[in-house]
Amino acid sequence: MLGYSIPISDYKNYPALKFSIQNLYLKILLLPSKSFLMDTLLAKAFDPETFRREGHQLVDLLTTYLQECRDAKPMPVLPPSNPETMVDFWTKDFKSEGFNLQDFYTTLISQSNHIHHPRYMGHQVVPPAPLSALTELLEAILNNGMAIYEMGPAATAIERVVLRWLADKLQLPKSADGILTSGGSAGNLTALLAARQVMAGYNIWDEGAHDESPLAFMVSEEAHYSVSRAARIMGWGEKGVVKVPVNDKMQLDASKLEETLAEAKANGLKVIALVGNACSTSTGTYDPLDQMADFAEKHGLWFHIDGAHGGAAAMTENYKHLTKGLERADSVVIDFHKMMLAPALTTAVLFRNGQNSFETFAQKAEYLLSNAAQKPWYDSAGRALECTKKMLGVKIYAMIKLYGDQLFSDYITTMYDLGKYFAERIKQETGFELAVEPDGNIVCFRYRSAGFDGDVNQLTASIRKKLLDDASFYVVQTTVRNEVYLRVTLMTPFTTHDDLDALLQSIKLMAE
Ligand SMILES: Cc1ncc(COP(=O)(O)O)c(C=O)c1O
Repeated sequence: MLGYSIPISDYKNYPALKFSIQNLYLKILLLPSKSFLMDTLLAKAFDPETFRREGHQLVDLLTTYLQECRDAKPMPVLPPSNPETMVDFWTKDFKSEGFNLQDFYTTLISQSNHIHHPRYMGHQVVPPAPLSALTELLEAILNNGMAIYEMGPAATAIERVVLRWLADKLQLPKSADGILTSGGSAGNLTALLAARQVMAGYNIWDEGAHDESPLAFMVSEEAHYSVSRAARIMGWGEKGVVKVPVNDKMQLDASKLEETLAEAKANGLKVIALVGNACSTSTGTYDPLDQMADFAEKHGLWFHIDGAHGGAAAMTENYKHLTKGLERADSVVIDFHKMMLAPALTTAVLFRNGQNSFETFAQKAEYLLSNAAQKPWYDSAGRALECTKKMLGVKIYAMIKLYGDQLFSDYITTMYDLGKYFAERIKQETGFELAVEPDGNIVCFRYRSAGFDGDVNQLTASIRKKLLDDASFYVVQTTVRNEVYLRVTLMTPFTTHDDLDALLQSIKLMAE
């Protein structure tokens, strides 16, 4: 490095001279480094032409991959592996000489869970519409941080447009507003923090929780774990989640609401909110949202809806009845990466009264937010869990403009219809049983042959294991009423009736 020290203190009596000498000193320090290696690496890492070349190759690779999935090319949907051998593989690869980016991409694809394959029927992760993933590449390169308006002006405005569009589709009032955040778990926490601040009756954000009458919310036994986790994060512990029993359909049993609330009060709890599932994770069942809204209204409770998976069914003609009451929620969470064709993670948190979106974090961060007292809508850090946040709305905006609202309605309707078809097939086939009549695209079922008198839970678990080993399908397992069931979530619009029939036949063979 070039550089030599000038005793600046010698010039202390000559301020102008001191300034120019300091400047000179800085300039010398900032001269391009002679470190050839650093220059080369940085230049290489930022070379636009390399980006073009590798980018084209990657798009070609992904195009072939998408086509193979679309053609239902037989492949191990989840290639069998175990965590220890997988980490050994990558440790060895990491230590090996040389690296080819395209080979790396190819290997990664081959070892991954193939969400786009029609025989992927596992967890609730959507195969993203390819152009929404392409738009995400742009988000990654622009990398506008979104904490405040200046860090992502266009993306901030686009996020607002997308949220208003969604609020409209959900038939929330004009006062609705919210934010996009990174996932349903973060979304539930964001909404429930606001509920706590609005409903506690004092400034809990600044004062912390008061000891007398601890706070709680009521939720069905079937709620996603992120809901009870939110209570624990807020320091309410286990008692902060008052569980309402479910009925035969695994819906929150509305007839149990009054007694559950009375019991909670008798136990000294101050229940501030009621949480509804639209739909539940395990069985995909929708809670009776309209009845719950009545109950919440009667008792002055905040009504939050976890619509991470199925809230968007409100946009369909044939399934919107399932979400009746959603439009009455104080807050609602919807994942775009579940039933709205976007890559993970993008979640909308909407508040009926948009002002409540500012209650999630009543805290100030003056160094970021120009005037915290005014709480401008366009400085997202004031309302989102994230400081730096991805430009979440951009790919959603592009999808809406490219394909129109109908895309989402078509997708959800296709997948829910397929769930209904599969349930009917299960009912027709001897030996198969449904855990519960499905509302949408999550179907839980199991099989036992005519003379089987063993443990059906063990049998189901062993079938699931064989399905994993065989890897022609990817299906998961769940527990319903303490009994083990296979669980499919139909996520790929190109899954056919034949695929589902083939799954039933495979299961029969595996049960032998
Ligand atoms: C009903 C429900 N809520 C919340 C979540 C959590 O969402 P995320 O995985 O985006 O954090 C899930 C995930 O499966 C879910 O099914």
